[in-house]
Amino acid sequence: MTQDFDIHALRAQFPACADPKWVYLDSAATAQKPQAVIDAISDFYGSPLANVHRGQHQASLSATEKFEQARRDVAAFIDAKPSEIIWTRGATESINLLAYSLSQHFTQHDKIVVSEMEHHANLIPWQLVAQRTGAQLVKIPCCINTGQLDMAAYQQALMTHPRIVAISHVSNVTGTRHPIEEMTELAHRYGAIVIIDGAQGIVHEPLSMQTLNADFYVFSGHKLYGPTGIGVLYGKQERLAALSAFHGGGKMISEVSFDSHTLAPLPARFEAGTPNAAGAIGLAAAIHWLDQYDARAMDSHISHCYQALLDGLKQRPVIKLICPQPYSTMVSFVVEGEHHADIAELLGQQNVAVRAGHHCAHPFIKALGVEGTVRVSLGAYNNQEDIQRFLTALDKTLYLLGV
Ligand code: ALA
Repeated sequence: MTQDFDIHALRAQFPACADPKWVYLDSAATAQKPQAVIDAISDFYGSPLANVHRGQHQASLSATEKFEQARRDVAAFIDAKPSEIIWTRGATESINLLAYSLSQHFTQHDKIVVSEMEHHANLIPWQLVAQRTGAQLVKIPCCINTGQLDMAAYQQALMTHPRIVAISHVSNVTGTRHPIEEMTELAHRYGAIVIIDGAQGIVHEPLSMQTLNADFYVFSGHKLYGPTGIGVLYGKQERLAALSAFHGGGKMISEVSFDSHTLAPLPARFEAGTPNAAGAIGLAAAIHWLDQYDARAMDSHISHCYQALLDGLKQRPVIKLICPQPYSTMVSFVVEGEHHADIAELLGQQNVAVRAGHHCAHPFIKALGVEGTVRVSLGAYNNQEDIQRFLTALDKTLYLLGV
């Protein structure tokens, strides 16, 4: 059931929004949590507690049921099968799992296509594969005027017949939404396995894995209004079944002798050790919370805030926007001669939270020819007042810096 988008009612569900002094514009780093998520975690720990998949007593059966229901909920959210959902610590761990497991037999002849706009989470794991196996990384460059990937270069890269294409859904620096549908389709024509880092993308766009057709899609719970320390690795069933095991330990096996083992079926095979059941249940609560809303109405609300933010920044000539996107939920900027960290600190002193730095994307920041940026990013709970308060605080910051 969806409800009309009432920003006042929505904000009332976030304890963090109760503080009238605080303006939070750093949701791309992590989102605030609605009370429903806090309650789900608190209920899980507050009821008689037991481990999941490891007990015949009622508390364990009930915890297991909630944990597996969470998997079914996440599967339904992205139009996938429950057995295609692997719980991880976050998008970063999901990509590390894939990098390790997919590259067991890679050699110096294998190629991995990665864009220069990637977060380190979708670059360093592939660099580690290259160091270990000799495989080569092939870069998709970015047009630094538009913040869009160079699609001609991408097609050239595909002609090298890479084993893997790993790209983000949405850049965490510029908010660029990459054409992942087209890129997936092209990569498949050349036989590549497609991995999409959805950490910034899934938050603002409902997705069907059936339509997207990528082989793997990963995301974190905490940017999706859910808890920290929980993430998802979605993989097509046949792709997951072909992967080597990652972590060894309890519950990822069927049979064990002193010197060998057989693997458990999916998804348990990739979930060694006690899982973050509270995190999974909290993430499912976040998805239920989001499901109450009409996604288009929520998107339209955020778009109006984004437009006001962009217009306000454009009206200040000292602000240099970094590849602003017409439709997005975040924007990066610099002020010539001023350090991004000083701007963020002065904004912070006025209770306005933004992120400044290289945003864990050193190669992209270097390609943009800057040392770092100030990034302003939106969540569903932001309103026009937040934008105006940010702009007022920015004016004071620029005044204090003598700009
Ligand atoms: N990856 C998160 C960000 O971009 C932490 O801020």
